[in-house]
Amino acid sequence: MDFKHVKENEEKSVLEKKEKVDQDFWRQKYHLQGIVGLINDPNGFSQFKGKYHLFYQWNPLKTDHTAKYWGHSVSDDLLHWERKSTALRPDTWYSKNGVYSGSGIVINEKLYLFYTGNVKDEEGNRSSYQCFAISEDGENFERLEPSIVNQPDGYTRHIRDPKIWEKDGKYYAVIGIQSEKLEGKAVLYSSENVKDWKYLGEIAGGNKEPLGNFGYMWECPDYFQLKDEKTGKVVDILAACPQGLEPQGDLYNNKYQSGYFFGKLDYEKPDFEITSEFTELDRGHDFYAPQTMEDDEGRRIIVGWMGVPEEEDYPTVKNEWLHCLTLPRELKVIDGVLYQLPIDEMKSIRGEKTEFNGTVNGETEAGKGTVYEMIAEFSDFSDDFGLKLRTGKNSETVIKFDYKEKKLILDRSRGEQPDKKPRKVYLGEIEKLDLRIFVDNSSVEVFVNGGKEVFSSRIFPQKNADGIKVFSEGNVSIKIEKWEWRD
Ligand code: FRU
Repeated sequence: MDFKHVKENEEKSVLEKKEKVDQDFWRQKYHLQGIVGLINDPNGFSQFKGKYHLFYQWNPLKTDHTAKYWGHSVSDDLLHWERKSTALRPDTWYSKNGVYSGSGIVINEKLYLFYTGNVKDEEGNRSSYQCFAISEDGENFERLEPSIVNQPDGYTRHIRDPKIWEKDGKYYAVIGIQSEKLEGKAVLYSSENVKDWKYLGEIAGGNKEPLGNFGYMWECPDYFQLKDEKTGKVVDILAACPQGLEPQGDLYNNKYQSGYFFGKLDYEKPDFEITSEFTELDRGHDFYAPQTMEDDEGRRIIVGWMGVPEEEDYPTVKNEWLHCLTLPRELKVIDGVLYQLPIDEMKSIRGEKTEFNGTVNGETEAGKGTVYEMIAEFSDFSDDFGLKLRTGKNSETVIKFDYKEKKLILDRSRGEQPDKKPRKVYLGEIEKLDLRIFVDNSSVEVFVNGGKEVFSSRIFPQKNADGIKVFSEGNVSIKIEKWEWRD
């Protein structure tokens, strides 16, 4: 097979489209985005020779999912990303229909990428290969022949997205898979030498205790441990993206879900003993396929795709680009609860500061801005209140606390995005509400009460929609600090 055209087509497409992309006022400032085309899952998130490496699923040719490369960016601080040459292309027999998602690990001063090669034959039958690529310089990757060919008995060829880690000198990988009964599952493999892999078994999934039906496929699983900062107890977390869950009230309202279970991984059985409900990691419209890594400082950092599959009708498509990644967030467990916090580095890009303080009853202007960080603290309330951001002609993103229902609501119905339904999360009885919000040219990320909940949503306001308003049905005390984004 001759794959010369793969790189050529990519370079041609970038040249053709870049100017149009660069002129789009919806291009992001805080977020990692593709140079042109569509991006989806973060991949190979790692730290190698002191630098952060973040790869991502990338279609440089079109704003759809028909081709998948691994784009690559590098950073010293997780904020400023430098684009590197494309790490992996669909230019091998075992990845010709897509270099699908996977993870990264540093072994003996080399960066290993472990990913899924996707192959479809003329009849559309799929084969999946789990493969390695290795780099000594963090830029050029040598590709190895597949390490795991297809699936274990009892499963379909939907097996993908290996997440690798090391424990006591052995390597393990959790991989998303579909059973022949069309149930989504996570399976565990191990290896002594990274080359030869042994199938250990299914650790969690639909119709495996304690779960009932739980979707027809699990994508992008992740496994890690965190030390509870209050109790000191080490907790195990299994994250996964089940496809096929039905909406249940405020839950599961996106096309596909991304969430986690607390539990305990038993490597011997093997089994992930689930001890919690499945909890969605994010309450917004655009969050999927996250990946975590532990950095040199011992922080567990998560980055998600700020998008979901099968939603390609966003208005940036006309400008030849689609989707971006979320901000990196630090994960913490405090007293049995998982929190997601903006990384400390975010404070280093705080520009000009403005404040708004007072008691509000009705609606008031509280500043202006298009790309900024805001901390808003609300207290002494007994009715509905909230914020309106990026307000202007036909534009407005509303974050409202529904006092009776005790729910926080994100409403992006006034803008150019297709899905106009709000997203909600129940907060319970609260006397104060703290929001830390990052507003970008085409997104909002809202960290609620110290990161106990997060909403990530793309928004598509008019260019000059820079209004900030506060509103309340009754009295509410408000304290707002806001910093312009600074490069
Ligand atoms: C999740 C996903 C993965 C797959 C990749 C392909 O969004 O479908 O399961 O590896 O995207 O781009």
